[in-house]
Amino acid sequence: MVDRKDLIRKLYYSDNLPILRSMEDESVDLIYLDPPFNSNRAYNIIYPDDLGQVTAFEDTWYWTPECDAHIHDMTHLKTRSILDALANAMGKSQICAYLVNMAVRLIEMRRILKPTGSIYLHCNPTASHYLKIVMDAIFGTNNFRNEIIWHYRRWTGKAKKFQCLHDVVFFYTKTSDYSFNILYTDYTTGSRERKVQGVLNRFKGGETHFVSYKSVDEKGVRENDVWNIPFVAPSAKERLGYPTQKPLALLEKILLASSNEGDLVLDPFCGCGTTVEAAEKLKRHWIGIDITYSSIAAIKERFRRQKYNVWGEIQIFGEPKTEGEVEKNLINSQSASARKEFEKFCVTSIGGLPNDKMGADGGIDGRIPIDKNEIAIVSVKSGRISIEQIRALRGLLNGKNKIGIFITKVKPTKKMKLFANQSGIYEFPDKPEKVVFRTQELIPRIQILTLEQILKGVQPILPWAIPNKF
Ligand SMILES: C[S@@+](CC[C@H](N)C(=O)[O-])C[C@H]1O[C@@H](n2cnc3c(N)ncnc32)[C@H](O)[C@@H]1O
Repeated sequence: MVDRKDLIRKLYYSDNLPILRSMEDESVDLIYLDPPFNSNRAYNIIYPDDLGQVTAFEDTWYWTPECDAHIHDMTHLKTRSILDALANAMGKSQICAYLVNMAVRLIEMRRILKPTGSIYLHCNPTASHYLKIVMDAIFGTNNFRNEIIWHYRRWTGKAKKFQCLHDVVFFYTKTSDYSFNILYTDYTTGSRERKVQGVLNRFKGGETHFVSYKSVDEKGVRENDVWNIPFVAPSAKERLGYPTQKPLALLEKILLASSNEGDLVLDPFCGCGTTVEAAEKLKRHWIGIDITYSSIAAIKERFRRQKYNVWGEIQIFGEPKTEGEVEKNLINSQSASARKEFEKFCVTSIGGLPNDKMGADGGIDGRIPIDKNEIAIVSVKSGRISIEQIRALRGLLNGKNKIGIFITKVKPTKKMKLFANQSGIYEFPDKPEKVVFRTQELIPRIQILTLEQILKGVQPILPWAIPNKF
């Protein structure tokens, strides 16, 4: 029996490649990965109550000099020649860039899997046929176990073709000596009725055989490779608003089949943490990695909501802890998306919902819902600041916008603080009794927080405790 308090729980805010490279050989029992599918689109987090959207991650891959370097350095020759062949046939296209990036990671994943370990690669028909070739090269055709079809129902557009209602999950093992628990599902109504009559029909060699009830497994029917599991519906309780969130039931099934209590489960593209919750629930050690801060924030929210009460026990790596780290990894990064991460980092650190929209939203970088009719708006500045910017934020306080929070890397001057202090006090409207007041303090309409304060965990003063989304 594994004691929950002994579980290893690690969350990395990072590109998964360097983390995978740093992991020990043959150390992981099960890997589930659900990488972006090369769908050539951006995935947005949808917030409740019309609070908008923010791009969680982009799913567009381009050929870069790094792709050439990956192929050049690839010592796995079979994979390298397949990638060369694909690049020759299709040019240095987006799909080839995607496959190179996947291959270089899958090679590491094979290395860190234990000989008894398994890997489940979740994808869809956009790239599944190419990915299977790469998986065959890396894991060997003889270690291919199943192509699982996850079938679901959801609202689809009116395209001139059949509705697309399935994803593909490839199941490979590292060797033929792998750990596997057979799963069972219930009999169909028809089988159950015949079972009551004492016989079941079975097709064998093209003929119908009558088999006695006693020869049928009492546990039910052995699970097959088509899984009907509902999609995470907009109204589902488990929904976190993270795009591409997978249902917990899907992950539980994979973990129950290919791992046991106390095993180590890795999800290198962990999104909002469906795998890590399944691992927590089933008492597996777990490691999750994701490159976007929205994912880390969503996982924090997931653990805040659920009942395991282990948030304090989770080790988070890569989350900037000092101003220097924020400066180096987010603000001064060459990548525009990393700089956007600075805003996301600041906004989510104070329980807000980051905002993507520029221009039209007049520089609002995030919102914190106060209740259905009121919000606090957040503005984040990573460079020099002026009193004009704070005045502009105050100018946006109308209608629903009741409080303005100005987050700055640079320390505000005395004048700026004075300006904020003189910008008025939030007035409590009549609220229903259920509202839990968090503070008896006067609540300034304009509040300035520095990055230094945020890193120390200082929060804005808000009228009442609300369940923050991220
Ligand atoms: C399809 S989503 C995973 C969804 C997840 N299965 C869930 O249930 O929430 C893919 C995730 O991969 C992350 N990602 C993309 N490239 C990455 C990389 N190089 N390293 C780590 N994570 C990455 C994205 O930020 C995104 O959260």
